[in-house]
Amino acid sequence: MNVTKSFIFSAALLASSALAGLPALAQGAQRVDVLHWWTSGGEAAALNVLKQNLNGEGVAWQDVPVAGGGGEQAMTVLRARVTSGNPPTASQMLGFDIQDWAEQGVLADLNAIATKENWDKNIPAALQQFSKYKGTWVAAPVNLHSTNWIWMNKKVFDDLGLKPPQNWDEFIGALDKVKASGKTALAHGGQPWQDATIFDSVVIATGGPEFYKKALIDLDPKALGSDTMKKVFERMTQLRKYVDNNFSGRDWNLASAMVIRGDAAVQIMGDWAKGEFVNAGKKPGTDFLCTRFPGTQGVVTFNTDQFAMFKVGADRQAAQQKMATAIEDPGFQSSFNVVKGSAPARTDVSDAAFDDCGKKAIADVKEAVAKETLLGSLAHGHAARAAVKNAMYDVITGVFNGDYSPDQGVKELVTAVAGAKQ
Ligand code: GAL
Repeated sequence: MNVTKSFIFSAALLASSALAGLPALAQGAQRVDVLHWWTSGGEAAALNVLKQNLNGEGVAWQDVPVAGGGGEQAMTVLRARVTSGNPPTASQMLGFDIQDWAEQGVLADLNAIATKENWDKNIPAALQQFSKYKGTWVAAPVNLHSTNWIWMNKKVFDDLGLKPPQNWDEFIGALDKVKASGKTALAHGGQPWQDATIFDSVVIATGGPEFYKKALIDLDPKALGSDTMKKVFERMTQLRKYVDNNFSGRDWNLASAMVIRGDAAVQIMGDWAKGEFVNAGKKPGTDFLCTRFPGTQGVVTFNTDQFAMFKVGADRQAAQQKMATAIEDPGFQSSFNVVKGSAPARTDVSDAAFDDCGKKAIADVKEAVAKETLLGSLAHGHAARAAVKNAMYDVITGVFNGDYSPDQGVKELVTAVAGAKQ
């Protein structure tokens, strides 16, 4: 071998060995880039289950985390990426946002996989109305969360001789007792989506499921402007008395941590809060208690996290499809949701691996489906489109912070919704 030939040979060798050492991406191996807002301890632990499953299938995970509970910031980043022609393989998405993106024509068609894997049969209609656009599956639902829960520190409750409250008066009685003991009664983060998460529950507890539907889903001006809504706002104002002085702007998981530590007694939050308790090594029934928001048993205000799949080049489609398949695998639905705190998105998943709160979540969903009281959460984009939701957020937060009296709040709500609906 002359010098030139040997040079070429060793350069080729070098190139191939360098390629072998490169991460899978450079070799055209499969990868998904996934935008999401699961950045708290419990959320990240759950997401890891999906990452690992996909890694096992030979799919590398490129993480695009955008912190901020409820996903508002994530949706801003997503808009920028899609607008600049660089959509992720998949993005975590809620309710009506999926429909809005589908309308833009940027989401992929998952019908072939959905048909092969029988999604139509095993995913409840309430979820499908968001996952499908004009008959085409565009998103893979990963869970079924709900917002009408309260989470209690058991020791704080035991020490004060308290039991999980089952109606409004018992709830207020319990909060009063905790406040009198010098502890923070209600752990809360003053962010619009968190205020609205409380609002979901108070509307159900005050007006019942029919009223919730009329006001927050049908957006009936009469219901929005009613005395019942005024009472909802009075109750929101009442709850405000039980939060600590530093509640403004606090992240939801830090509020969960206050209950976990026993610095506060109760958090009103969706069942992703359970993910935080479990991630901190806490056990339901021993360290913490869960119950439906007092007066809402039988109703479930749900939000389902879905991974909306974007139209991507042919080279990225195989990985995208593997991701969709992995998400709807019943085994994954169990192992993921055990960690996340949610019920599975599929109805054919056993509850055996779930703790008592998880079993209750699954049973409550069944009950709500039968009673037709499985209702989309306003706070998490499953009752109304983003424009209306955001208009409501402003009023709810205004009332909670005392900027509007309950009376003014009702009037503002009617006006805000009418403006945003157009
Ligand atoms: C919700 C989402 C949950 C949880 C929560 C807090 O909108 O559905 O999965 O992540 O935000 O970040």
